[in-house]
Amino acid sequence: MSEAISKSEQARYNELVIETARQLHTARREKHRQVQSRERDIDEIFPDYNRVGLGVALEYEAMGNQAVSESLQARAAALGARFEHLGTTLGTVIHNVDLQGEQSTEQIEFIRATLLERKVIFFRGQNLTQNEQVAFGERFGELDAFPFGKPGENPYILEIIHDKDHPGAENGWHTDVTWMERPSLGSIAQCVEVPPYGGDTLFSDSAAAYIGLPAALQKRLQHIEGINDYRIFLTTRSPEELPVELVEQIKQKIPFGVSHPLLRTHPETGKTSLYLHGGFLRHDSLYDTRSGDALDVRESKEIVRVLLQQHPRPEYTCRFKWSKGSIAFWDNRAVQHYAASDYYPHRRLLRRVTVSGDRPFYKTHSGESV
Ligand SMILES: [Fe+2]
Repeated sequence: MSEAISKSEQARYNELVIETARQLHTARREKHRQVQSRERDIDEIFPDYNRVGLGVALEYEAMGNQAVSESLQARAAALGARFEHLGTTLGTVIHNVDLQGEQSTEQIEFIRATLLERKVIFFRGQNLTQNEQVAFGERFGELDAFPFGKPGENPYILEIIHDKDHPGAENGWHTDVTWMERPSLGSIAQCVEVPPYGGDTLFSDSAAAYIGLPAALQKRLQHIEGINDYRIFLTTRSPEELPVELVEQIKQKIPFGVSHPLLRTHPETGKTSLYLHGGFLRHDSLYDTRSGDALDVRESKEIVRVLLQQHPRPEYTCRFKWSKGSIAFWDNRAVQHYAASDYYPHRRLLRRVTVSGDRPFYKTHSGESV
């Protein structure tokens, strides 16, 4: 009996809901007709609180509504390479390219062009020796050694090793080494040991993330820089405090606290990117470059908080599953990355070389340097 009553209540509820849906649909359709009769501007279609779809769409439009340009596709065909695109605006596996041994200039230029168009590229089954990986990196410029990690046999190799005593710690969205005055152009990482599952690296498009910001915030950021330093390497990675004298020596040798813009103009593509590392940036350090005045601390922290929420949006990302011998080559000026820490207590070993970059700058679209 009680079941029958409950069913009849359910039926009454559904009648009400169905009627409500009809009324709402009719009202929305009417509103839509009115709106269609005039031009809707982009701010109406994409409200400030959700411009993610716009970020992807406009970045893809800037790419000619195609994953790669026709000329790059033709170069791939001429070299016998095949593209496998992982994301809408970023991330491409280049198949049928062998990175062992000497590369022709044409092949290196093709790889560089693909990196610029796709922001992060991948190769599989390469299994380069440390020296081969360094030699490959050197084809793209000078290399940056890394002072805070475990060097490999070759000093330009950084070994990123995680196991049961060292759980994966790169699981925060970031672009590499913003504590440097001239942060590395790009990083080339090869997987040497892969966990049985997990351990993927995700990449996020910094140009799309910029485009997806509310217009007022984009404008506000034009004249703002913040101070970056490597404090996290001097404290939290070590269970005990490092000797004070050693810390002081390091700070004297390697600049501690460098200013970088939050918007970065890509020196090769000219695109504007959202540029920050939440661990290196001092969240309370933002200042206006025109006056030199510091922002109110609360505003500074709030801007950083909002900006750190942009890259994690899945729409801006692609995800790469490592296998032994896989290589990822990312453009630090165009993407952020995040190494999923989901394979503990298993071991994961990557070897990374970094190609030297230049000092970040921001130019408005009218060409004004700020
Ligand atoms: Fe990194």
